[in-house]
Amino acid sequence: MIPSPRKTRAAVHDGTSTALEIRTVEIAPPGPGTVLVRLGASGVCGSDRHVLDGDWQLPSPTVMGHEGAGTVEAVGAGVEDVAAGDHVILSWFYPCRRCTACLSGRSFVCTGSRSEECLLPDGSTALSDAGTQLFPYLSVGSMSEYTVVPESAAIKVPAEVPFDVASLIGCSIATGYGSVVNDAAVQAGQSAVVVGTGGVGLSIIMALNLVGANPIIAVDLSDDKLEAARSFGATHTLKPGDDLAARVQEITGTGADFAFEAIGRVETIESLPWLITAGGKAVLVGLPPQDAPVSIDALALAETGKSLIGSNYGSTVPGRDFPRLAELYLAGKLPVDRLISNRIKLDDVNEAFDAMRRGERARSVIVFD
Ligand SMILES: NC(=O)c1ccc[n+]([C@@H]2O[C@H](COP(=O)([O-])OP(=O)(O)OC[C@H]3O[C@@H](n4cnc5c(N)ncnc54)[C@H](O)[C@@H]3O)[C@@H](O)[C@H]2O)c1
Ligand SMILES: [Zn+2]
Ligand SMILES: [Zn+2]
Repeated sequence: MIPSPRKTRAAVHDGTSTALEIRTVEIAPPGPGTVLVRLGASGVCGSDRHVLDGDWQLPSPTVMGHEGAGTVEAVGAGVEDVAAGDHVILSWFYPCRRCTACLSGRSFVCTGSRSEECLLPDGSTALSDAGTQLFPYLSVGSMSEYTVVPESAAIKVPAEVPFDVASLIGCSIATGYGSVVNDAAVQAGQSAVVVGTGGVGLSIIMALNLVGANPIIAVDLSDDKLEAARSFGATHTLKPGDDLAARVQEITGTGADFAFEAIGRVETIESLPWLITAGGKAVLVGLPPQDAPVSIDALALAETGKSLIGSNYGSTVPGRDFPRLAELYLAGKLPVDRLISNRIKLDDVNEAFDAMRRGERARSVIVFD
């Protein structure tokens, strides 16, 4: 039996325009090892914006969205981890479960995943439009009423977690929390500066607050974002400027123990090593455009024993971390709901990207009926 639906409304990127087109497209039933999910919500993340603005090359046409949560509608042959009716958060980096990294418990550096090719493990996609194959962004494609993902990308969470909150756990929260806990391993009382406090930067601040970092310095151009940063636990807020390193030094004494970049700009990435103390760690969370190398003073970095860490998805292990983050939310320890600045319809997604380009809104979340 072929489960319904056969059609889904989706936000499609044609590969060139900076705007998305909302189209009704075809969706195939879930094949072996895959799962049909009815989306409850999808966040609008800075990574989606990079794609629209042509910063990264991707297969196209692309169904956008990679920060999603919903209900399992049907499962393909052999699926055991989830069943119809389960509430799931979607992971944008599904593990192959076979490579050396996966077999060593380090699925976050899996070398066999086809997520970045926007393909299911067998090389197909479930979405098409009048015979043209569509590629779900990062094999998620959450800006669509329905999507089909590999079983390993659908992580069951308690049904009490609202979909809008759950969707954010799927990218910004997991990335922010993971960068602090898994990658930087920040300890209580250590100091941190976060440059860029949009959805991801605010998630980093939430996690820094949770682990007891102090002081926590937020840097952004927007007063609203800095106010939000304070509400999530930032102890100091600064606007970017030439004297940023001096101001961070004044607050911390010798420079911060950790500096996180959460914008994806070459200039701010280059400034990170100057914000940390000797032996400190600079953590790259923001993703710059393709082919935009940064320049680092290697001698100063080496002589002061500083580290530069690349942080992808906060080295999240979705099956371990999504339920943990959901429980932290339910326990009132991670106020994910307060990150949602705007609940919107799928048809209003282009406005959300325009607001993001202006540096407005902490996080827009598309809520499906
Ligand atoms: N590493 C990962 O796994 C991962 C995961 C998700 C997102 N990201 C990346 O994180 C970055 C941020 O994503 P987001 O969703 O938070 O985007 P966002 O647009 O919500 O946030 C960016 C913030 O940077 C601020 N900003 C812009 N220019 C600035 C400047 N010169 N100085 C200080 N602040 C400035 C903006 O006001 C905004 O608050 C993007 O590059 C995105 O691709 C990385
Ligand atoms: Zn994202
Ligand atoms: Zn693997």
